[in-house]
Amino acid sequence: MIIATGDEVNMHIFLDTANIDQIRQAAKLGIISGVTTNPSLVSKEKATNYEATIKEICSIIHGPVSVEVIAEETQDMIKQARDIVTWAPNVVIKIPATVAGLEATSILSKEGIRVNFTLCFSLNQALLGARAGAAYVSPFVGRLDDIGDNGMQLVKDIVGVYEHYHLSTEVIAASIRHPQHCVEAAKAGAHIATVPYSVLIQMIQHPLTDIGVTRFLSDWKRISQK
Ligand code: G3P
Repeated sequence: MIIATGDEVNMHIFLDTANIDQIRQAAKLGIISGVTTNPSLVSKEKATNYEATIKEICSIIHGPVSVEVIAEETQDMIKQARDIVTWAPNVVIKIPATVAGLEATSILSKEGIRVNFTLCFSLNQALLGARAGAAYVSPFVGRLDDIGDNGMQLVKDIVGVYEHYHLSTEVIAASIRHPQHCVEAAKAGAHIATVPYSVLIQMIQHPLTDIGVTRFLSDWKRISQK
């Protein structure tokens, strides 16, 4: 069953990986609402069977699992999307924010297929994706920062404009590189931050927590030895 994220106000955490071990580990924490993959992430895993990998991910995480089409023409994207959605009920189709992708998003959304409009680098792309009926839009924060732009400002702008026009498309802060990006995504009002496993672990870690645990334990040992 797909976890509906749109009816809640808190920022959901998705895992941005195709690594099955990481997904299993993260699932145990009980706070992962979905997964996002892309062709680069899947190819890193050297998985021999794309479909089997995605099916396994969908069986571990029951929330939305984004799977990207690997095509440049509208009709090819649509054909692939219609096939991929049969793999599992919680699959969401990632479509790039191109002209061909916009047309495919409009058609697929009208069929009730949930689209994650991805590789989004501008407010105009996000606006058009929402008009086309995309369930999600993915501004790539880190990649904008990489070229000296301000990725999080784009997230803020999209959230603000969607709210202003009551557009129901959810904003996924993507291309997250470090825990501060997650803090900023939450402050920006992103509905979701999709994070690599390493960033997820960094989010929970704090040296003062570790020092505190060690001190509590040693104090407790001293008392119990009296
Ligand atoms: O969520 C999108 C992500 O997979 C891209 O991240 O680090 O390759 O820009 P990155």
